[in-house]
Amino acid sequence: MLTRIQIQRLVHKHGREIFEHEHMQIEKSCYQHGVVTTFAHSVRVACLAVWMADRLHLWRKVDLHSLIRAALLHDYFLYDWHDWDNGEHRLHGFTHGNTAVRNAVRDFRLNHIERDSIANHMFPLTPRPPRYIEGYLVTMADKISATRETFSMDRFSKPKSGKPDRGE
Ligand SMILES: [Fe+2]
Ligand SMILES: [Fe+2]
Repeated sequence: MLTRIQIQRLVHKHGREIFEHEHMQIEKSCYQHGVVTTFAHSVRVACLAVWMADRLHLWRKVDLHSLIRAALLHDYFLYDWHDWDNGEHRLHGFTHGNTAVRNAVRDFRLNHIERDSIANHMFPLTPRPPRYIEGYLVTMADKISATRETFSMDRFSKPKSGKPDRGE
C-alpha cells in the first residue's frame, strides 16, 4: 500500500510537465472552494485518485500516468469562477469540463484517457459519463475533495495575509 509521501512523489513525478507550465501558475491565484485554490484542489484530487486506485487494487486496470495528468488538469479552465463577469460563468458547472479540455489540449499532448476524463469529470451534472476507469476515479476524487473543501471550517478563517492555500 502506498503511503501519503509516496503518493505525493508519484503525483509530482508524473505531473512534472503540468506543474512546470506557466499557465498552471494561474490556478494558484484562483479560489476553488472556500480558501482552497484551484491548484491546491487539483493536487488533492490527484493524490486522492491515486490513493483510491491503490486501495481498490486497480493497478492492473489503471494507467497511473494518465490518471495523475487528468486529475491535475480536470479544472484547467484558468479563470476564477467567483469573479463577476457579466454572467458568462453562470453555467460554470456545466461547461468548465469542456473549457478545461480545450485549454489542456492547447498546452499539452493528451491521450484519449486524459481528454475524456477531463471533459466528463462533472458527470452526473453533465450528461456523458466517463469512458475510462481513470475518469471515474477523477470524478469520485473530485466530488469528495470538493465536499470536504466546501464544508471545511478553514473557510471561516481566511489567512490575514490574504494568501491563498496553494497546496505546496
Ligand atoms: Fe470541476
Ligand atoms: Fe474539481
